[in-house]
Amino acid sequence: MVRELIETNITRRLIPKGLSWFGCMGGLSLVAFMIQLGTGVFLMFYFIPSATEADASIQKVSHSIPYGWLIHRVHAVGPHVMIGMVLSHMFRILFKGIYRHPRELHWVSGACLLILTLVMYYTGYLLSAGNRSNYSVIPITFIYALHIAGIPLAMGLFMGMHFFMVRKTGIYEPL
Ligand code: HEM
Repeated sequence: MVRELIETNITRRLIPKGLSWFGCMGGLSLVAFMIQLGTGVFLMFYFIPSATEADASIQKVSHSIPYGWLIHRVHAVGPHVMIGMVLSHMFRILFKGIYRHPRELHWVSGACLLILTLVMYYTGYLLSAGNRSNYSVIPITFIYALHIAGIPLAMGLFMGMHFFMVRKTGIYEPL
């Protein structure tokens, strides 16, 4: 029973010969998002969203917590990789004309995901060291709430919509 399940779902599901890297970018964007989520939850245990204490709390993560430096680095570099993946995913769909009927709403929900990914990047940039001069205009607690709750929740919602619709129509070039 378990063996049958593993064989039908994993070991007998070989990667098709013609699959290109561009065709994997939607799935890889999701993997990048999950990595940001995991490393972000780790950082939440230590980061203090205060203009005077934020730097010291991040210094503590990098120097006193085991592997803290690695998790902090992955969380800082990951967004650049993720944005590259989301853009490659989008350009493949644009150049192949996959956004046409019946996939208009896949495209619209995807565009919302791109905007939310960029807002996530910008709020993260404002929270990082050296970019905190804006706190007199927008309080750090507001930026932090957006970064750890508001935007991720909205992304979860749009991803749910995106995947539901992909499931309904099936993918454009079946594996
Ligand atoms: C966080 C960002 C995103 C994630 C995690 C994501 C994830 C995915 C996944 C896993 C699929 C199914 C597999 C595939 O065809 O690649 C998919 C399909 C699709 N995505 Fe996205 N996506 C994102 C952003 C976007 C953007 C920015 C657009 C366009 C503006 C877009 C438009 C589409 C369309 C039209 C499909 C259907 C493709 C087909 O039927 O083959 N997505 N997405």
